[in-house]
Amino acid sequence: QGPKPLTGRRAVVTSGPTHEPIDPVRYIANRSSGKQGHAVAAALAALGADVTLVSGPVTLAHPPGVRVVRVETAAEMLAASQAALQAPDGPADIAVCAAAVADWRVAAAAGDKVKKGPDGPPTLTLAENPDILATLSQAGPARPRLVVGFAAETRDVLAYAAAKLAKKGCDWIVANDVATGTGTFGGDDNQVHLLRRGAAPEAPLVETWPRLSKTEVAARLAQAIADTL
Ligand code: C5P
Repeated sequence: QGPKPLTGRRAVVTSGPTHEPIDPVRYIANRSSGKQGHAVAAALAALGADVTLVSGPVTLAHPPGVRVVRVETAAEMLAASQAALQAPDGPADIAVCAAAVADWRVAAAAGDKVKKGPDGPPTLTLAENPDILATLSQAGPARPRLVVGFAAETRDVLAYAAAKLAKKGCDWIVANDVATGTGTFGGDDNQVHLLRRGAAPEAPLVETWPRLSKTEVAARLAQAIADTL
């Protein structure tokens, strides 16, 4: 048995949802179990990579052999990802953004619990969250060599994923159909397409993988990353 192919490589993986507080007891969140992202972190570590998993609130166990940084909000997830990517000796080699980041946060979360009252429901003013994948992809000299995003769509999966690849500036997108009935959210299986940036960002190279367990999708993705680096 030779050396593992990702020995000496550093990777940062985001996983899970983010929680954006409305007040101390309520939050806005996204639907994500973290299963796919955690599996990717474990698969990269199994190939020898030094992995930091930046995880939103999930109920999953920490994957073996992986450093875990727990965060709540998108702002915390971005800060933790940037810190992990930069420290201590130059940019990491790999970033995989599998988290389902809330697109918006409440602009001014209340310091105390918002009470029901005669004036009816409160109006929430939202502010846009940072796009972690786009920020890491466009980080100039701090950019990891390979940046991989995910695209969960309910229709026109390949078209939307190709547009995302071009817009965010990442190298690969793992695209999947999460329409009701596919069982992807919270489930153990996933059927994905791997899109790699081609000569033109609008014309990516597409590989369609069979329906696999999320663990097998992660293992294939980690192997594809090892083959590329
Ligand atoms: O734009 P959309 O949310 O559909 O893109 C999904 C991809 O972008 C995923 O890889 C997700 O982790 C990443 N993303 C992010 N930060 C955001 C929104 C999405 O990293 N604020």
